[in-house]
Amino acid sequence: MAGPLIELRDVKKTYRTGDVEVHALAGVTLDIDRGEFVAIMGSSGSGKSTLMNILGCLDKPTSGSYTLAGQEISKMDKNQLSEIRNKTLGFVFQNFNLLARTTALENVELPLLYQGIGSKERTARAKRSLDRVGLGQRQDHHPNMLSGGQQQRVAIARALVGTPSVILADEPTGNLDSRTSIEVMALFQELGASGITVVVVTHEPDIAEYASRVIVVRDGLVRSDKKQTPIPAIVPDAPPPSSQTAGHSPEANEGAEARAIGRLKTNEDQKTDAASNGDTAPKDAPSDASSSERGASS
Ligand SMILES: Nc1ncnc2c1ncn2[C@@H]1O[C@H](COP(=O)(O)OP(=O)(O)O)[C@@H](O)[C@H]1O
Ligand SMILES: [Mg+2]
Repeated sequence: MAGPLIELRDVKKTYRTGDVEVHALAGVTLDIDRGEFVAIMGSSGSGKSTLMNILGCLDKPTSGSYTLAGQEISKMDKNQLSEIRNKTLGFVFQNFNLLARTTALENVELPLLYQGIGSKERTARAKRSLDRVGLGQRQDHHPNMLSGGQQQRVAIARALVGTPSVILADEPTGNLDSRTSIEVMALFQELGASGITVVVVTHEPDIAEYASRVIVVRDGLVRSDKKQTPIPAIVPDAPPPSSQTAGHSPEANEGAEARAIGRLKTNEDQKTDAASNGDTAPKDAPSDASSSERGASS
């Protein structure tokens, strides 16, 4: 496709409450290309969420134009907006927004259900999406059986299941510890490398360093816009391989997982497992690895 994926031209968004006008966006002009990984920064009230809502076709500009994948958004009606959202965009939220009484797989299937896609294809696509974020073996887990980082990965799988061109994430690491945040950033970097555009709102400069471009918004305007060489998101001290990544048989691991969850597995248990299953124990693990892992994962 010719031209950038996202083109904003002098986009303004004005909110009126009573006779007070707030210029949440005061004239934003911006191009974003395929595969770019953009971090949007700015203090509270600067217009970040308003910008994301417009990029996400959840809201329309008061004036100005927005072209997404060659289509002019500002003149679309509600149905057209929801169609382009389903086809082109994926959303990730600070609070994951997963349904609690629903398995990881069903959570990921949900957008496809709304699109009227049949159950067989839904399941197949949701499985592929969970595999892509490294959670294929957790598909039957409910959110409360997953760590925060895993829940956010399920949410990313859900965002990916519609094969979007753009992932929009408002503070996706706001509820995650720094180690898990890096995991999520690593995933976003991978998506960027595969041609998906990622736009992340963050107020953490450390997180913005993983992006290929940082846009700072203030008072509804772009105050700076810089491309950068991203820091590769490498998670320090990988967690014990144990049941999550070990082995090649999903069925076998699923059983082991369920048993493990059943007895509320502790790190001590994991060590026993690793010892009783030579295949899964890292052969070159330093002898003090388990103690540092315990420290890192607590
Ligand atoms: N629905 C709304 N109605 C009225 N004012 C709003 C609305 N949404 C946002 N605003 C105002 O627009 C400005 C930008 O808000 P927002 O985009 O949420 O900023 P940020 O996400 O950077 O904190 C703020 O002054 C906010 O109070
Ligand atoms: Mg906000």
